[in-house]
Amino acid sequence: MATIVCWNTAFLLQIIIVAVQVLAGRDFYAILGVSKNANTNQIKRAYRKLAKEHHPDKNKNDPDAERRFQDLGAAYEVLSDEEKRRVYDRHGEEGLGKGDTGGDPFSSFFGDFGFGFGGMREQEQEIPRGGDVLMDLDVTLEELYSGNFVEVVRYKPVAKPARGTRKCNCRMEMVTTQLGPGRFQMSQQQVCDECPNVKFVPEEKVLEIEIEPGMRDGQIYPFVAEGEPHVDGEPGDLKFKIKQSKHKMFERRGDDLYTNVTISLTDALVGFEMNIEHLDKHKVHVSRDKITWSGARLRKAGEGMPNYENNNVKGALYITFDVDFPKGALTTEQKEGLRKLLDQESKQTVYNGLQGF
Ligand SMILES: *[C@@H]1O[C@H](CO)[C@@H](O)[C@H](O)[C@H]1NC(C)=O
Repeated sequence: MATIVCWNTAFLLQIIIVAVQVLAGRDFYAILGVSKNANTNQIKRAYRKLAKEHHPDKNKNDPDAERRFQDLGAAYEVLSDEEKRRVYDRHGEEGLGKGDTGGDPFSSFFGDFGFGFGGMREQEQEIPRGGDVLMDLDVTLEELYSGNFVEVVRYKPVAKPARGTRKCNCRMEMVTTQLGPGRFQMSQQQVCDECPNVKFVPEEKVLEIEIEPGMRDGQIYPFVAEGEPHVDGEPGDLKFKIKQSKHKMFERRGDDLYTNVTISLTDALVGFEMNIEHLDKHKVHVSRDKITWSGARLRKAGEGMPNYENNNVKGALYITFDVDFPKGALTTEQKEGLRKLLDQESKQTVYNGLQGF
């Protein structure tokens, strides 16, 4: 008996919750799984991840997939737009009014990057393709460390109907012509159809590129079908090649970072403490108690770049020290004092300066 009552209450509660949700419109933050104060980058990242998972092409057997994907698109469209988000925060989905574009942001977002839906292409090999376009994309080390979204404006020629006709579907065919009585000639000739004419009109399109943490120099980021159009076939791809800019403090090798620090001779001898500002502005604390010689190298595990395949794994930061010696000369007493203090034998070793000799 008690269990039935329990179940009833739960059921009632569910109905109430559903009713409240319908009244208040959809909870876009819950749909994207982000907090109310998430920044734009977090929203974009959440959308990108979920859109990949819930794309209807990947969930053909799930009748709910289409609706979930539309919810995602709507949530993204509102929360990624400052103005719409402000209205939504105040008045909910109702406040936004009807008749919004409702367009699928997926199409202008990331192209087809990393998805498996492009499988049609192999079967249609005879269809001509426009050329691929390869562009360099300059990216800072900061962006590669933390991730970022970059907007690229592309002027893309788009085919529009035009007056007249044009030759199309051209192919070679054998034609037999009679040259005279009893004389024929067979020859190959180009035969074409007449198609409605098109002209290419440049159109502006904003493409959004996600710089993912840990992406590597030279990595290719493709937008399927955003390359050169082809009048009789499909467009080529637009590809961005990540070009890592030089950084004034850090050098990257794989997932490891390298930096140099100059310390004073006093620091080198008595020890020191310092903070290095990292790429996302967090501080890396360095302290030495022992003597630091010129060329000494310190390894800070986990302070390198995030690994592209697994962002939770980070490389190491290697800090190489060099010592800034004071200039000038010491007095005789100072020299004596130092000799006593350091208690180091006078010693000179001659060796090959090009070590690989
Ligand atoms: C550190 O110094 C070495 C030697 O001068 C130089 O080759 C290297 O490029 C420097 N590294 C950075 C990150 O500046």
